[in-house]
Amino acid sequence: MEERNELSIGIVGLGHMGSSITTALLLSKQKVVALAPTDSKLDQEGPDRIRKSLTESFQQHFTETPAAEFLKNLRVTKDYEDLSRCHLIMECVSEDLDIKKEVYGKVESVVPDEVIITSNTSAIPISNLQTLVRVPNRFFGMHWAEPAYTTRFLEIVCGEFSDLEIGEELYRIATRWGKEPTLVRKDIRGFITNRIMYAMYREAFYLVENGYATIEDVDRACKNDGGHWMTFCGLFRYMDLTGLQAYHRVMKDLFPTLSNQTKVPKLIDEIAKSGGNGIFNGKGFYNYTPEEAKQWEEAFEKFSFDISRLSSKYVSKTMINSNNSVSNLVKEEEREK
Ligand SMILES: NC(=O)c1ccc[n+]([C@@H]2O[C@H](COP(=O)([O-])OP(=O)(O)OC[C@H]3O[C@@H](n4cnc5c(N)ncnc54)[C@H](O)[C@@H]3O)[C@@H](O)[C@H]2O)c1
Repeated sequence: MEERNELSIGIVGLGHMGSSITTALLLSKQKVVALAPTDSKLDQEGPDRIRKSLTESFQQHFTETPAAEFLKNLRVTKDYEDLSRCHLIMECVSEDLDIKKEVYGKVESVVPDEVIITSNTSAIPISNLQTLVRVPNRFFGMHWAEPAYTTRFLEIVCGEFSDLEIGEELYRIATRWGKEPTLVRKDIRGFITNRIMYAMYREAFYLVENGYATIEDVDRACKNDGGHWMTFCGLFRYMDLTGLQAYHRVMKDLFPTLSNQTKVPKLIDEIAKSGGNGIFNGKGFYNYTPEEAKQWEEAFEKFSFDISRLSSKYVSKTMINSNNSVSNLVKEEEREK
């Protein structure tokens, strides 16, 4: 099983996520066959985005290897046949069932039955996607976050028909890419992270729409409270670190007052329906001139490298063995001295 990682990984879709994931894999010295499925500008510019991200990684000292070295491991193609020798396929095409179905049909017609197929879907239940494939037990969610090459985040999601052993194999493979993966053993809409994040988004809208705080204040509170510790530890560890008794007391009174609205909030509905798309067209919860949009994009990219460097100082082996996490964390800190 281990030697599977030596073989190529096939990426289908060279849009934003496909390019970003390809960069992450190349940085971990993985061979990649990247399939640009359409003639769209988005796909055709995929290789440029990858080159740019690799160059940026080098300039930011995220790697000491120049882009050209990594690019030797990349083959870009339009031909599904070129995926036939990959051991793992990652589908990164639009969040559209018909498109994904068509892509799975083409992939399954060229790869052997033991090849693992994954989808980067943000929100479609994996069990639903499994109904679209011929061999469902080798099908998983592999949910990346942007920028895929700087975050340590990766969710591996089992659907109803997935083989858990293969899921565990994916987990081990992802660890070798420098990720701190999570394995979602039972399919649930939104997986782990989107369920948690969307609970937070809902409450943020509730506070703003009901006049308790402005958008700016909600953003500042998130940035300086959760934002201060979340890269260091998760929610449960944080409650331990700060004394869980207090949380126990607060939950009783606070939970009944939190928003449980099921409709899409009016605030985002109006912006989205009028075409707003944040920094991509300057219209979002804030407005941006083209220069401001560029500044935010560049600052976010730089921050991603900085936070990745910082968080890598505090990597614990908790993902392997939660029982000795503290001693492992201490070791990591000592290593830094
Ligand atoms: N953008 C994010 O931050 C993010 C995060 C996590 C997961 N995802 C998921 O990743 C997937 C891709 O998202 P993205 O943001 O990269 O989208 P994108 O729009 O940047 O790219 C879409 C890709 O789909 C391909 N495509 C479109 N129509 C096609 C067709 N008919 N046949 C074959 N391919 C076709 C395009 O060529 C392109 O490569 C989606 O499922 C999305 O939900 C996105």
